[in-house]
Amino acid sequence: PGEDLLSAVLQQFDVHDDHLFNITRTFLREMWDGLESYGHDMAMIPTFVRSTPDGSEKGTFLALDLGGTNLRVCEVNLHGDKTFSLRQQKYKVSDALKTGEATTLFDYLADSVDAFLTDSGSPTCALPPSLTPRDLTEASDPVDVHGSYIPLGLTFSFPVEQTALDSGKLLTWTKGFSAKNAIGNDVVKLLQDAFDRKHMHVRCVALVNDTVGALLSRAYTSGGCILGAIFGTGTNGAYVEDVANISKLGRSEEVKEGGLMVVNTEWGGFNNSRSALPSTPYDKKVDRESINPGKQGFEKFISGMYLGEIARNVIVSLIDVAPKSLLFSGHSSKQLNKQWGVDTAVLSEVEEAWEGIGRFAPEDSSRQPSVQQKLERIRDVIVRRMELPPDSVSLDDADIIRKICTHIAWRAARLSACAVAAVLVQTGRARLTRGDEEAKNTVTLVDEGKRIGVGVDGSLVEHYPYFEKKLRASLRVLVGDDVEHRVDIGLAKDGSGVGAALCALVACRQNITKQ
Ligand code: BG6
Ligand code: GLC
Repeated sequence: PGEDLLSAVLQQFDVHDDHLFNITRTFLREMWDGLESYGHDMAMIPTFVRSTPDGSEKGTFLALDLGGTNLRVCEVNLHGDKTFSLRQQKYKVSDALKTGEATTLFDYLADSVDAFLTDSGSPTCALPPSLTPRDLTEASDPVDVHGSYIPLGLTFSFPVEQTALDSGKLLTWTKGFSAKNAIGNDVVKLLQDAFDRKHMHVRCVALVNDTVGALLSRAYTSGGCILGAIFGTGTNGAYVEDVANISKLGRSEEVKEGGLMVVNTEWGGFNNSRSALPSTPYDKKVDRESINPGKQGFEKFISGMYLGEIARNVIVSLIDVAPKSLLFSGHSSKQLNKQWGVDTAVLSEVEEAWEGIGRFAPEDSSRQPSVQQKLERIRDVIVRRMELPPDSVSLDDADIIRKICTHIAWRAARLSACAVAAVLVQTGRARLTRGDEEAKNTVTLVDEGKRIGVGVDGSLVEHYPYFEKKLRASLRVLVGDDVEHRVDIGLAKDGSGVGAALCALVACRQNITKQ
């Protein structure tokens, strides 16, 4: 009966192919809704980024990146030959800052930039020779009485309704942030006010989401990219859309001009109603106990912030099974009983131990560990990371934990593939292998045979064993082998910094043109 119960629990995490197709179709429908009108959970935010770089861009910029695992301040030097160099400093954002007053959070951001500039000596930020800070100061409202300032691009990885390249209102917080008096406000202004309060010679000239950063940076380094996707603490994607499809822009200048625009989908909010998502009681519990119940439905099945918490709930439920516990002889621990007590990194470690990779890779690759040795390593991980007494964890327990991790990760990767497939269909790069053609794309399959650039970033895709491989396998199911082979997924490492720098460059150019 124990085995049956375990299989019944694990089966709830299987997403069958039919289901994948349904989810992708629903995804496409929600994309269209968001392109048509404002106020949808999947916000489909126009970013006002009208073109992607080709690698020839040059200049040195400051970038500030909030919303991933770390707050980062970087100085990015775009060399103009598809390469860049970057100096960066990471800072921690405490829970108190995440949930306190917005001004305190933004003061901390300004302090971090100040500390970076102080530590790194005199600022070396420079525009390309054709544009000087003096030009910029004359071109726009100077913030600095000395007549020059350092242009900074802000990567702000939350849903922001942009109204221009350098302004946008925060729609809602995600990923555990809830700072007060920020929602509805212009985040560029919040940051600029903080710089000004400290009399810093820094001007925030551009605002980008991390997905847009990943997209632009991948385009810069590889010459072309249609989708930037983050699979990290949160998940989201930005892609290049035909402006004519963004009907909610009405008859705005952008629409009259035609062409393309990067859209930040905010796909973390896909299907908040969960009508299509394969919600289990564990997912419902994670959602209910989160600070944003009913929100970020898709994200809660996929991203690093939640996978560990889903696993913890499954584990605790199996410990509690009566009359005979299915795990750890009925023992639990403080760590296991605590919300967020199991980090997704623990699941990564379990899978690495099982696969014999990463820190568990054998020195001699011809000598793969036996199953028993692998399970012993998993047991060590469990004892250490879940803080359980060693004699309460058996090798059978280790095997059950491994299966739980694999099921949760597979489901995350399969759902992620639905989002990627939907973007490929929407942009005319693919058709779903089953069912009628749904795409409302105006672009047809013009570049058949051409590589399709996708930039990805985030702790999950970077560190979770075989996450990308699983995503690709699921993508094959949805769009077929041919298309999947043409999808060139590349890590947009440091993409946010590079993307913010590229946007700062565009903003500076636009300021000069406006003059
Ligand atoms: C980082 C980017 O590399 O990845 C951030 O600089 C981004 O902008 C982050 O938000 C996403 O990954 P994670 O795992 O840190 O949330
Ligand atoms: C969350 C944010 C989104 C961001 C994503 C990845 O979903 O709402 O803006 O891109 O996390 O960091």
